[in-house]
Amino acid sequence: MTTKKIVLYVTGGIAAYKVPLLARDLIKKGYQVRVALTQNAQKYVTVDTMQVLTKQDVYTDFTLQKVAYVPHVHLAQWADLAVVVPATANIIAKMAQGLADDFVSTTLLATPGPILVVPAMNDHMWENPATQRNIAQLKADGKRVLEPAHGFLAEGYAAKGRMPEPIEISQAIDESFQSQDLQEKRIVITAGGTQEDLDPVRYLTNKSSGKMGYALAQIAQARGAHVTLISGPTNLTPPTGVDFQPVRTAQEMQVKVNQVYAQADVVIMAAAVADYLPVQTASQKIKKNQDVWHLELKKNVDILQGLGQAKTHQFLVGFAAETQDLIANGQKKLAKKNLDLLVANDVSRSDIGFNSDQNEVTFLASQQAPRKINKAQKHQIAQAILDEIKARQGW
Ligand code: CTP
Repeated sequence: MTTKKIVLYVTGGIAAYKVPLLARDLIKKGYQVRVALTQNAQKYVTVDTMQVLTKQDVYTDFTLQKVAYVPHVHLAQWADLAVVVPATANIIAKMAQGLADDFVSTTLLATPGPILVVPAMNDHMWENPATQRNIAQLKADGKRVLEPAHGFLAEGYAAKGRMPEPIEISQAIDESFQSQDLQEKRIVITAGGTQEDLDPVRYLTNKSSGKMGYALAQIAQARGAHVTLISGPTNLTPPTGVDFQPVRTAQEMQVKVNQVYAQADVVIMAAAVADYLPVQTASQKIKKNQDVWHLELKKNVDILQGLGQAKTHQFLVGFAAETQDLIANGQKKLAKKNLDLLVANDVSRSDIGFNSDQNEVTFLASQQAPRKINKAQKHQIAQAILDEIKARQGW
């Protein structure tokens, strides 16, 4: 878990109402969070809210009594990362010019460390050449700018200018601390469940949410890897920067995986591939004119087993979803599919696994005692899996 220190500088845009959610998420991840609010920000988010969430005094001006010395210098130096969120056109202009006329702008000017700027504003203000000049200046000065999203604005219409969701900002913050230790590695990750059609409107699938595979893709990408994410249908947004290949059936997934297998350094099969598919797929919608419907199913392709057989240099990682005898069943899969690492998880538990944001897994590898990874967020489990691969490959 991280212990990094973040200061959130909140300026006066309506999107400030989402900052408490961001702060809560960061605290859950272990970050130490302090908050400074401009005068205008306090119209949208209160000092009390931020104080209760962070359990820290909130900075609004230079008079904070509890800090022994100059508060703006103290806060500026305390931060491992300063995040301006939301950043109005005004604070962006002030930062670009080096103006220091209130606590937030002064502290930002005194900040020696990295600064992440998260603009949110009206689309015309964003597109205004003055704002674009200022943004270019901030980038040239070494600040990282998170592009506003396209979406519904407070003005009542959809356009570019919207603040990215708190979860995306939180992930961008994680990425700021990520070392680029997987650079030039080609990692193929499968995710989600597959769908096997019964007729044009019905299919067989499973409970996989795709969260584990997407977390792996996001972290691997942030660590510098070239990531191909081959995914069955999910409700998730693919991480930016990955080569995203959507598929539906196991067959389609196999084709896509095989296309990139030869060039891959690592393949991680986090997808829950349907083990069986209907013997026949009806071309027309099946009518309900029988009381009992006997489905005939046949074994599906086993993608991972095929990869294990064709393995040349690739490091192969499988997942084992088990409801009983986790370790014994996992060991069998490790050998049978010729894997280098098997990540076993108990899907009978409702607090982890399918659809949960958390997981608890055990790493199995040949000639190695099982290694249990304690219950943690899927993003942290993803880090642990990538660390294990890296260590085993000697990267
Ligand atoms: N897998 C696969 N193709 C399949 C089934 C599974 O590639 N048709 C992969 C999964 O992505 C996972 C691993 O094999 O990485 C193990 O999946 P799991 O469902 O736990 O095991 P199965 O091989 O399907 O065995 P069983 O269902 O009998 O436990």
